[in-house]
Amino acid sequence: MKTIPARHKGKRLAKTILVINGPNLNLLGTRETAIYGSQSLADVEAALGEEARARGLTVHCFQSNHEGALIDRIQAARSEGVDFIIINAAALTHTSIGLRDALAGVAIPYVEVHISNVHGREDFRHVSLLADRAVGTLVGLGTAGYRYALDFAANHTVAPAGGATVWLAAKSSA
Ligand code: DQA
Repeated sequence: MKTIPARHKGKRLAKTILVINGPNLNLLGTRETAIYGSQSLADVEAALGEEARARGLTVHCFQSNHEGALIDRIQAARSEGVDFIIINAAALTHTSIGLRDALAGVAIPYVEVHISNVHGREDFRHVSLLADRAVGTLVGLGTAGYRYALDFAANHTVAPAGGATVWLAAKSSA
């Protein structure tokens, strides 16, 4: 049972979480396995779904190879009441002002995930157009990064009227 400190009164924990994966992540499990591992995207999403069910969360997963489809999905999240976004924008991380603006536009807190350690790879992967506005980033932890991000999201408080969000510092009382 989680206790919410007094300063978070009136806020609630995030319940509905959207997991977004960008271009080529549909190839997980067969794509450059030395870098991205052998788990498929279906495996990753199934594990997140199971974890979500066990915690009483709702997780929606979406993957697309198309920038516009990803932007449309992010825009739809606001009217769906999504509390938190976990996003691996893949190559679009390094190039897409459109995705950055969509995330800023819906004002839903997000964590950026990268399976590989982008900072140990080519220079062009060191730049993220999403990172400075993210609550945080998880980089280089393999596909486990998605699970850690879900754990983080589940402990994130959101204002009831869609206002500012606050990281819940004090965790479990049990
Ligand atoms: C990636 C890293 C990106 O640079 C790359 O374009 C990807 C995957 C990762 O998860 O490590 O497609 O986002």
